[in-house]
Amino acid sequence: MTGPLVVRTREELRAATEGTIALVPTMGALHDGHVQLMKHARPLAQTLVVSIFVNPTQFAPGEDFDAYPRTFDADLERCAEAGVDIVFAPTVDVMYPDGLDATVSVDAGPLGQILEGAQRPTHFRGVLTVVAKLFGLVGPDVAVFGEKDYQQLTLIRLMARELCLGVEVVGCPTVREADGLAMSSRNRYLEADERQLAGAINAALRAGAASGREGGTAVLAAARAVLDEHGITPDYLELTDPDLAEPVPGREARLLVAARVGRPRLLDNIALNLGGN
Ligand code: PAF
Repeated sequence: MTGPLVVRTREELRAATEGTIALVPTMGALHDGHVQLMKHARPLAQTLVVSIFVNPTQFAPGEDFDAYPRTFDADLERCAEAGVDIVFAPTVDVMYPDGLDATVSVDAGPLGQILEGAQRPTHFRGVLTVVAKLFGLVGPDVAVFGEKDYQQLTLIRLMARELCLGVEVVGCPTVREADGLAMSSRNRYLEADERQLAGAINAALRAGAASGREGGTAVLAAARAVLDEHGITPDYLELTDPDLAEPVPGREARLLVAARVGRPRLLDNIALNLGGN
């Protein structure tokens, strides 16, 4: 198994890429969920690039930027497993040549202020800004993101379309542990007893989805009952339509949750059909 080529600058990238390009942006600490994104992306273009960059601007002061797991050698092995051609691992100077307080950034708009954005007001500005920069540096035809961060995926899709970036944004289903816990780099922060409890987050979503036919109030009540039973108080538990607007009876909807279990905040979401007409 030959490993991917590691490049750190735009010039090295340009010299190494050829033909159509698929990009999987990551912050490293790669797990099976990331490997699925890479495998999904592999047939979509001639060159598959994975970026590994822990982006400082999407962390607020006091969040886990310094502690965020950095596992570069193991990450390269995961990339080799998935047939990645190039790993783009830029420095902060390459990504932010004018410094972290540069004057131009991407405003996520009103959908960036709800759900995660209400808890982390500067988060999506940081995410969209770095993704826009990665699109500019890598020049992908297609970029693949996980549905686990559903609001992030929705906002990146909107950004690509509304700013005419010419990148097709593809979402991939969440990869889960046996008890339903969504895979995440932050799951490694969970202590053994917290890990056991964490499965309740997805169980709550499944209970909510199973009540879909009874309407939105029943969905939220069923999900909250499972969280209550396990002593989990969510930061939010909300039902939206697939575009994060108000849910519409009789249509598809999304149930989204975030909750702290021990040290990490865990995010998950599920699609469901809402009853009513
Ligand atoms: O989902 C992530 O890992 C990050 O938010 C992303 C999209 C790589 C931007 O830093």
